[in-house]
Amino acid sequence: MSVPALRSSPEWEALARHWRSLRGTTLKQLFDADPQRGTRHVVQGAGLHLDYSKNLVTDETLRLLRKLARARGVFERRDAMFRGDKINETEKRAVLHVALRAPRGERILVDGNDVVPEVHEVLDRMAAFSDKVRSGEWRGHSGKTIRNVISIGIGGSDLGPVMAYEALKHYSRRDMTFRFVSNVDPVDFVEATGDLAAEETLFIVCSKTFTTLETLTNAHAARDWCLEQLGGDEAAVSKHFVAVSTNAAEVGKFGIDTANMFGFWDWVGGRYSMDSAIGLSTMLAIGPEGFREMLAGFHAMDEHFKSASPERNLPLLMGLVSIWYNDFFGAQTVAVLPYAQYLKRFPAYLQQLTMESNGKHVTLAGERVDYATGPIYWGEPGTNGQHSFYQLIHQGTRLIPCDFIGFMHSLTPLHGQHDLLVANLIAQTEALAFGKTPAQVRAEGTPEWLVPHRVCEGNRPTNTILAERLTPHTLGALVALYEHSVFTQGAVWGIDSFDQWGVELGKQLANKVIPQLQDAKEPKLEHDSSTNALIRRYRAARGAN
Ligand code: F6P
Repeated sequence: MSVPALRSSPEWEALARHWRSLRGTTLKQLFDADPQRGTRHVVQGAGLHLDYSKNLVTDETLRLLRKLARARGVFERRDAMFRGDKINETEKRAVLHVALRAPRGERILVDGNDVVPEVHEVLDRMAAFSDKVRSGEWRGHSGKTIRNVISIGIGGSDLGPVMAYEALKHYSRRDMTFRFVSNVDPVDFVEATGDLAAEETLFIVCSKTFTTLETLTNAHAARDWCLEQLGGDEAAVSKHFVAVSTNAAEVGKFGIDTANMFGFWDWVGGRYSMDSAIGLSTMLAIGPEGFREMLAGFHAMDEHFKSASPERNLPLLMGLVSIWYNDFFGAQTVAVLPYAQYLKRFPAYLQQLTMESNGKHVTLAGERVDYATGPIYWGEPGTNGQHSFYQLIHQGTRLIPCDFIGFMHSLTPLHGQHDLLVANLIAQTEALAFGKTPAQVRAEGTPEWLVPHRVCEGNRPTNTILAERLTPHTLGALVALYEHSVFTQGAVWGIDSFDQWGVELGKQLANKVIPQLQDAKEPKLEHDSSTNALIRRYRAARGAN
C-alpha cells in the first residue's frame, strides 16, 4: 500500500508550525490561562479515566493532531482492522485480536468465514479444561490432582500470561502454584521446577509457531523431567502436557495429543495474544468467569475505540499525544509508572506490545521513514521508581513523557497505606508539571549556591490513568487501551505495526552459531573478527579445543 509522505503533508507542517509557536509555553501558563483545564482535559471510557491536562498541548494542538489522524486514514484503517481486512500487509494477514473478545453472535469475517464461533468454541474448551483441573477432576499420570501449572513460552507467548497472572493474583487460586518459563538459560527451567513434583505438575506449552528455539528446548526439558520422575512411561505426557498453538502438525510431532491442544489463528499476533488460548494459565488461575470478565474489559475498550468521538477517544488521544512528543519534541522514551505492585510486569509486557509493533524503519510501501517511529517504553511500579530513576525525569536534560496508572481502591487495604500510594502518584504529576522555581527555593532559606541544584523546572508532561480497582475487567480495558494507542501511532506513521521481521536475523545467526560452539572439531569461522574471536574464546573456555 502506498502511504502519502508524512513530513511534507499540510497537516504535519501545520503541527510543526504550531510546535514552534508554542516553544517556551509552560504547563503553568496553560493552567493559569484556563482554570478549568484540569477538569476539561479528561475523558472516560471502558471504566478508565484519563486526565491528559498535564500535557504540553492546547486545544489547537489537539485539533491539529486529530486532523492529522483523519488525513492519515487512522479511522479507515481502524475500521478495516475491525472488519477483518488484511491490514498486516507484509504477512498478508488480518489483524483480529479484537475478535478474541467479540461477544457470541457478533460476525467478523476472514476470507468469508465468520471467526467468532471458532473463538467461542476454543474459549468453551478452555473453560471445560480449566474447570476439570481446578476441581481436581483432571488427574496426573499417577492419579494425583494437579497443584502446579507451568506455562512455557516466550515473547507474546509469555509476557502477557506472566503479566496477567501477577496483575490478577488477588483473584487467583492460592492453593495452586503458577510459574512461567521463558528463557533458554537453563536456570529458568531448573529454578521453576526444582521444588515441584512432576506428578502434580501440568505444563502448558505456548507457541504460536511451535518452532521457537527457547520454547521447544524448554518443552523438551520439561518432558524429560516429567518422564524421569514418572517412570519413563510416554503415556504420562498426555496427562501432564497441553499445547497452545496454531501449528497442530508440530504439536503432534512433539508428542502432545492434539486433543489436548488449544488453537488460535494466524490473525492473532503473538504480542496481541494474551486473551487467546495463550492465556490458558490466566484462566486456570482466575477461573473461566474471571477470564470472561477480562475479555469484557478488552471488548469495552474496543467498542470505545470504535465509536467514541475523536475528541473523547482515549486510545486515539494517547496515541496522538505520544506522536506529538516523539516527533515534534524529540522525546525518545515513554515511562509507564503503575502505582500498583500487582502491575509490576505491566511495563515489561508493554515493551513488546509497543516496541515490537512500532519499531519499524520503513513505511507500508517499503520506503525509509524520515521521522521517528516507535518510542522506547519502559517503567517500574511507583513508588519504587521514585527512589531510583525519577531524579532524571525531574531534573535531567531529557523530556520523558510519563503515564501514571492508579486505582481508587486497594485490593488489600492496610491501615490507610493506599492513601500514601495514591498521594505519591498525584504529587509526582504535580511536581513534574510545575516544579519548583528559584524564588520558591530561596523562600525556603536555601543558600544561594544551592539554589540551582534545588530548582525543578517542571514542564514534564504526564498522563494520569485512573480506575476504580484492579479487576480482570480493568486489566482488559487497560491492555486494549495501549493496543489501540499503538495502532493509532502506527497508522499515522504509515508502518506495519503487526510484523516483526527484525527479530528474524538474530534467530538465524544464532542457529548458525550453535553448532560452531558445540562442534567437536574446530569449525571454519567466517564471521567478522569480533564474532570469530568470541566463538573461539567460548570454545576455549569450555575445553572444546
Ligand atoms: O521473537 C519474536 C516472536 O516471534 C514474537 O513476536 C512472539 O511473540 C515470540 O517470538 C514467540 O513466538 P511463538 O509464539 O511462535 O513461540
